[in-house]
Amino acid sequence: MGADRPGQRMHRFDGASDALASEVVAYALERVRLDPPPLDGTASLTELRARVGRSIGRAPRDPQEVLGLFTGVLAPACVSVDHPLHLSFVPGAPTEAAVLFDLVVSASNIYGGSWLEASGAVYAENEALRWLADLAGLPTGAGGTFVSGGSAGNLSALVAARWRWRRDGGDPRGRPLVLASGGSHSSVLQAAHVIDADVRRTETDARGRTDAAAMAALVQALDGADRARVMAVVGTAGTTNVGVVDDLDGLGRVASELGTWFHVDGAYGAAALCAPSVRQLFTGIERADSLIVDPHKWLFGPYDCCALLYRDPFLARRAHAQHAEYLDVLDQDDLGDEMLNPSDLAYHLSRRARGLPFWFSLAVHGTDAYAEAMEETLGVARAVASLVEASAHLELVMEPDLSVVVVRRPGWEPGDYAAWSDRALREGRAFVVPSTWRGETVLRLCIVNPRTTVAAVNGVLESMR
Ligand SMILES: Cc1ncc(COP(=O)(O)O)c(C=O)c1O
Repeated sequence: MGADRPGQRMHRFDGASDALASEVVAYALERVRLDPPPLDGTASLTELRARVGRSIGRAPRDPQEVLGLFTGVLAPACVSVDHPLHLSFVPGAPTEAAVLFDLVVSASNIYGGSWLEASGAVYAENEALRWLADLAGLPTGAGGTFVSGGSAGNLSALVAARWRWRRDGGDPRGRPLVLASGGSHSSVLQAAHVIDADVRRTETDARGRTDAAAMAALVQALDGADRARVMAVVGTAGTTNVGVVDDLDGLGRVASELGTWFHVDGAYGAAALCAPSVRQLFTGIERADSLIVDPHKWLFGPYDCCALLYRDPFLARRAHAQHAEYLDVLDQDDLGDEMLNPSDLAYHLSRRARGLPFWFSLAVHGTDAYAEAMEETLGVARAVASLVEASAHLELVMEPDLSVVVVRRPGWEPGDYAAWSDRALREGRAFVVPSTWRGETVLRLCIVNPRTTVAAVNGVLESMR
C-alpha cells in the first residue's frame, strides 16, 4: 500500500528503512546476548542535557543519529537490571527467548483486552497463568490476567476484595480495613491509600515473618465496628527487604475465620513455588482468594509483567468490568464462561499481551528448566550466606528463606555503606544498595539471576573488607 499523503508519510520510513530495521534488530540481538551486559550507571540531568539536549523538534531527524543517541548515550545511562551483580531491590533476568518474543509481541500489535480481538494471545497467556495456578494449588476455576507489575496487581486484587466486602454487607460509604502482614510491600499500603482503605499491620517475628498468632492478635485488638470494616487479610510470600515467607496457612485460616478475603503478595517470592527445595514454605498459599507473582522479577521474563490470579475470577469481573455502549459487543454471554476478557479482571482496559514473552519462554524451555534455574539461584543464595557466616569481616543478619541475603559489616556507619555502594556502581563492579533492618543499616543481596555465581558475589563481599 502506498503512503503518499503527507499525513501518512511517517507510517513508513523511506528507502533507509531496511538498513535501519537491520540495525535495530542487530542492536536488540546483540544486547540480548551480552553476557554479562554492561552494568553501566546513571547520569546526572546536567550530563544528559549536555549530551542529548533537545532530541525532539518539528523537523525530522536522521534515524541513525537518533538510534545512536539511544545506543551511545541514553542506554549507557541506565543500569542493566539483568547484570549478574545487580543485586539491589528485586532485579530481573529475562531469558533470551522471552526478550526476543517481546519484540514479536510489539510487532504483532495485539490489543490484549478481549477474546474478540485477541483470543489466541489470551489463550496462550492463560496457559502460563494455569501453570502458576497449579503450582499454587488453586482450583481449576481460578483465573486472571497479566498486569504491569506487583503494584497494579495488589491494587486490582484489593479492589476485588473490597467489592466482595461490600456485596456481603460492608458499609457502602464506609472506609474498609486491610489487615496486612508486617512485611507487606509499600505497594499494598499505597493500594489501600488509593481505595481509601485503612491498614493495620501485624508485629513480625525476629526474622520479619508474620504468623497466625500475630494476625489473630491484630484481630483481637479490633472493636466490633472495626471488625465489620475488615475487607482483606494480606500475607506476603517473600518479603522484599529480607525475603521471608509468612505463615500463609495460618493467615489464610484467620482470614477464613473472619470470613474475609485472603490476598497473597508473592510478587517476588511466589516465583519459587516451582522450586521443590522451598515449596513447603508456601503451604497455605492455596487458600488465597487472590495471588500475584511477577515474572519480571524472578521468573525470567522482561518488564512489565505481573501475573494476577483469582480463586473466583467471575467475582473479580464484577468488580472490574467497565460498561459502556461501545463495550457491549465485548459482553461475555455468547462466549461462554471460560472465556473471561482480561480487561475485566483488573484496573485496565487496553492492555499489551504482556504475558506472551513469559508464555513463549515457558513453552520453549519447558517448566523443568524453570525449576532448575530457580534452584540455581537459591543454591547461590545459600552458598553466599555460608560465605558470609564464615567470613571474619561480615555477619549474616539471618538465614535466607529464599534468595535475599542480608549482610552486616561490623564497624561500618551508614555513610560507609553508602560510599562503598556508590563506588561499586561507579566502577561498574556491582549494584548493591543499602537498606535497613530493625533500624540498622545493612546490605541486602537479592539473587534472582542464574548467571550470578558464588565466586562473583564473593568478590563483592571481599571488597567490603
Ligand atoms: C513483595 C512485593 N510486592 C509488590 C512489589 C511491587 O512490584 P512492582 O515494582 O512490579 O510494582 C514488589 C517490588 O519489589 C515486591 O517485592
